[in-house]
Amino acid sequence: MIKTTPTSMSKPRLEGKVALVTGAASGIGEEAVRLFASHGALVVVADVQDELGHQVVSSIGPDRVSYRHCDVRDEKQVEETVNYTLSKHGKLDILFSNAGIIGPLTGILDLDIEGFDNTMATNVRGVAATIKHAARAMVGKKIRGSIICTTSAASSIGGTGPHAYTTSKHALVGLVRTACCELGEYGIRVNCVSPFGIATPLSCRAYNLEPSEVEANSCALANLKGIVLKARHVAEAALFLASDESAYISGHNLAVDGGFTVVSHSYSAI
Ligand SMILES: NC(=O)c1ccc[n+]([C@@H]2O[C@H](COP(=O)([O-])OP(=O)(O)OC[C@H]3O[C@@H](n4cnc5c(N)ncnc54)[C@H](O)[C@@H]3O)[C@@H](O)[C@H]2O)c1
Repeated sequence: MIKTTPTSMSKPRLEGKVALVTGAASGIGEEAVRLFASHGALVVVADVQDELGHQVVSSIGPDRVSYRHCDVRDEKQVEETVNYTLSKHGKLDILFSNAGIIGPLTGILDLDIEGFDNTMATNVRGVAATIKHAARAMVGKKIRGSIICTTSAASSIGGTGPHAYTTSKHALVGLVRTACCELGEYGIRVNCVSPFGIATPLSCRAYNLEPSEVEANSCALANLKGIVLKARHVAEAALFLASDESAYISGHNLAVDGGFTVVSHSYSAI
């Protein structure tokens, strides 16, 4: 009989940790909530879709997960959500600041400026507010926490998303780097996960496509073949950055894109 010794991979990787996830009622955020909870974390689900948020909680169990309405564009709601987390669980170890919208699809010549502002308010200002209040909570309790934000392939190259979206995700990388700089003093790590196209309500609604059509489009454009990118793959990357396995990683924009953003799509020497 082969004897096996337990490895760090077989232990719950977030045992004893408290996590706050925004944009947690759907897509990548929902998947992260399920994964974090299955790895021992107590999770606060924050979103504006109350019905879906409550469904996520009841499907996992209210002993591990709770829901809080939080529009990240409103700093007061963000502060209240962090305070709720502290009063319920006594601390905050992990922020997964994932809420985001795709914004207007109009070209630059017809740029929808109001839509642009709303995209920046959600994807950048909203994330800044979550980092501010989560970091205050971590510093106040002397927690060496982990903050993870969701960027996109559109955070490192142009032409993969609409203008406001691409601008917001590039800005988010700057926000993460500057927050990483200041919060390193307190032992707090700040990173991003940067996904390629996934079939979630965000992408399906934006382009009026079925999930299978979004996946077919992504697979056709992908660099890495033979695998369909799912929200779960991004949640796994967020779990790594949330856990102690990434103890010395900070300021990183972790691409979950199968190499899409580092290869040329128009030129091949081979
Ligand atoms: N789906 C993709 O192809 C893809 C690719 C790269 C990056 N992303 C990013 O992943 C993140 C999650 O998106 P998703 O694909 O899971 O989409 P999704 O629509 O399934 O989930 C986004 C969630 O954010 C919530 N949200 C939107 N505005 C909010 C606000 N103001 N306050 C609080 N919550 C708000 C929505 O209600 C929704 O539940 C986003 O930041 C998105 O930009 C998605």
